[in-house]
Amino acid sequence: MSGSIVILISGSGSNMQAIIDTVDAGEISGHISAVISNRPDAFGLERAQAAGIHTEVLDHTEFKSREIFDLNLIRKIDDFEPDLVILAGFMRILTPDFVRRYSGRMINIHPSLLPKYQGLHTHKRAIEAGDKEHGASVHFVTEELDGGPVFIQASVPVKESDTPEALAKRVLTQEHKIFPIAVKWFMEGRVQLENGIPHMDGVSLEGRVPRLHAEPSEE
Ligand code: GAR
Repeated sequence: MSGSIVILISGSGSNMQAIIDTVDAGEISGHISAVISNRPDAFGLERAQAAGIHTEVLDHTEFKSREIFDLNLIRKIDDFEPDLVILAGFMRILTPDFVRRYSGRMINIHPSLLPKYQGLHTHKRAIEAGDKEHGASVHFVTEELDGGPVFIQASVPVKESDTPEALAKRVLTQEHKIFPIAVKWFMEGRVQLENGIPHMDGVSLEGRVPRLHAEPSEE
């Protein structure tokens, strides 16, 4: 039986779709057991249902506190005995108990070249800082928001004429490439967190995170 993957979303779910497509192509050794959204109107729910994947909604507005929401989310996730929990545009701050429960088996994608620009409005911040390149990172989730150890990145050049929206679009194209790769590596056991440091095939990635560069046609 191949490994179980649970994906958490809050919105469009385009990264989730990229992962679904790669699983369907037989390139990831695992199956997506469930997609869970904290927003009932997330478009990603429709995408998952169209792919025949079980979906659940856990509306955070119906819970009195973050702690109670996260405890209920843990219950739902654990029904599917996941080997990997994927945050694919899941826009929630997580409680320490939640993060600890999935330590070493929960990954997130963030639209910046971490450690730069944790948090929101990353594209606007990169443009305003005059950065020459921007991108996206996949990292293991730790208690620090967008601060966990990164194990793959993708970069795109920033253009003089860029708007946050135009740059976000190009970064998203790269996200759709690196996130499925990250999931594939994890499910094959190639990438693991050891003492807080990501390792690839047993070798530390500290200071040498693999980075994809946008094709000229995607720049
Ligand atoms: C993606 O750009 C992802 O990197 C970002 O939300 C978007 C979700 O898009 N995540 C974060 O900012 C997390 N801090 P999607 O729903 O189409 O995959």
